[in-house]
Amino acid sequence: MQTMRLGRSGLVVPRICLGTNNFGTGADQQTCNKIMSQALDMGINMIDTADGYARGNSEKIIGQFIKDRREDVILSTKVGREAFLGDLDANKIGVSRKNIIYRLNQSLIKLQTDYIDLYYIHAYDTDVPLEETMKTMDSLVKAGKVRYIACSNHSAEQIEESREIVEKLGLENYIAVQNQYNLFERDIETSVIPYCVENNVGVLAYSPLFGGLLAGRYEKGKPPPQGSRAFYRQGGWWDKVSSRENFEKLDKIKEVAKKTGLSLPAIAIAWILREKRVTTAVVGASRPEQLEEPAKGADVNLSAEIIGELEVL
Ligand SMILES: NC(=O)c1ccc[n+]([C@@H]2O[C@H](COP(=O)([O-])OP(=O)(O)OC[C@H]3O[C@@H](n4cnc5c(N)ncnc54)[C@H](OP(=O)(O)O)[C@@H]3O)[C@@H](O)[C@H]2O)c1
Repeated sequence: MQTMRLGRSGLVVPRICLGTNNFGTGADQQTCNKIMSQALDMGINMIDTADGYARGNSEKIIGQFIKDRREDVILSTKVGREAFLGDLDANKIGVSRKNIIYRLNQSLIKLQTDYIDLYYIHAYDTDVPLEETMKTMDSLVKAGKVRYIACSNHSAEQIEESREIVEKLGLENYIAVQNQYNLFERDIETSVIPYCVENNVGVLAYSPLFGGLLAGRYEKGKPPPQGSRAFYRQGGWWDKVSSRENFEKLDKIKEVAKKTGLSLPAIAIAWILREKRVTTAVVGASRPEQLEEPAKGADVNLSAEIIGELEVL
């Protein structure tokens, strides 16, 4: 597995990170252990989770697995998107000093560790003064509970706003941003990626396979296969992903993939990682063998011609 330094930091990360938002929903402890073992065997030594995934069960499952091999893993988790947990106490939601410290301590217990390698603010919070959030994140690094800090679902303007505050106050800054990016969702190309390239901020792309559509998990006109994400998560997400336009575009991507001899998930990952503007793709899996094709894509350099063909679809 190829690696890169994450942004301006000294942290060396694999170009594929294991995403785990289905741990505890789409996969049980035993299956997740196999997925994590397979990932480590392949050199995918970075695991991404969040305090709210599977109502906290994703962190618990990871904690069980990593407790005896903590130093082999680059562990990231997130705080600040607890609203979907249905917790109505306003002090247990978002990125206030009180909630960050409470949530981090909960995460450390569930993950059975005393530090997080990369700690994310999960989403920009307009209700909390940014200075309070950044001072708190800085204090966690100084306390040794967190090695590096990052943000997720942030715009270029929001990352820049944080930079101005931390530079003025001499605090730790975000070394990376984690936003959605794949052949269907390309918003970050407009300003987030150019900002990050210019300012040496690492970029992690989540849902690089568009939740499985770009892995060939679903077929036009057929119901979602048993055990797939769309099978157990009916409604909103699947309705959006399974539009006629998306399947038409998918057919065109498949044609380009065929020319290269690459599978659909491999070309989808190779395209994201082209030109090293995106550091790492955060790939989800519900079975260990699903990691093989995305990992192949991380080793491929697509030709300018193939990239050009994919760009215009
Ligand atoms: N920061 C944020 O706000 C945010 C938001 C979303 C996700 N994330 C992170 O990003 C990670 C990845 O997101 P995601 O799960 O939406 O992304 P994804 O990588 O686009 O999709 C993963 C799904 O694709 C299917 N798949 C993967 N490889 C396959 C293969 N070789 N063959 C067939 N199917 C394959 C599996 O679906 P089945 O499960 O159906 O088998 C798998 O669960 C999450 O786990 C999480 O860590 C972060």
